[in-house]
Amino acid sequence: MIFFLDTGIVEEIRTASEWGIVDGVTTNPSLIAKTGRSQRDVIKEITTIIDGPISAEVLSMDVKGMLREAEELASIHPNVVIKLPMTEQGISACKILAGQKIKTNVTLCFSPVQALLAAKAQATYISPFVGRLDDVSQDGIGLIREIRAIFDNYGFETQILAASIRHPMHVRDCALAGADVGTMPFSVMKSLYRHPLTDKGLTQFLEDFNKAKK
Ligand code: E4P
Repeated sequence: MIFFLDTGIVEEIRTASEWGIVDGVTTNPSLIAKTGRSQRDVIKEITTIIDGPISAEVLSMDVKGMLREAEELASIHPNVVIKLPMTEQGISACKILAGQKIKTNVTLCFSPVQALLAAKAQATYISPFVGRLDDVSQDGIGLIREIRAIFDNYGFETQILAASIRHPMHVRDCALAGADVGTMPFSVMKSLYRHPLTDKGLTQFLEDFNKAKK
């Protein structure tokens, strides 16, 4: 399973990149706004830290505007992936960009048929939002499972990028459900390392070793 960090904060990306398990980064307009910097500056800096796909989202609602923004964003670095909304216009732009060999990530996916549309438009990634579905009492992980089954039925190459991951159980369940990628906040990625028995065992090993030395 590929791991992306879901943040615009470069300090977090720098720290996590040292762990050796970050394959890419996703951002969205809310995450960029939190940094107080321009999207271009943030994305440019991320490309100097991570050598992998970096999603940057367009803000236009019309195809022409999306394509103009896509061109500007793609010019930052070859690793930039154009994030497009799950709308008629976003899907049209996706198909055009696929024809130009520009990588895309269709975002705000909440149903299997939306994922099917993105796959038909040859999106590189489709982003089903697991946590936001759970928030409204719908089955986020079930959506990943259904998209996996549909893509496998037809051999679609679009990768399932499980988004809106809120805790380690989401990561486990997305991996079991066959998501290709999981994007998660820094805090969730860090918490994957933690288990109380690991801490307890480590303390015990060190205590025993130090006792034996005396
Ligand atoms: C992914 O690309 C999205 O930016 C993100 O995962 C949304 O997460 P949230 O629902 O926690 O805001």
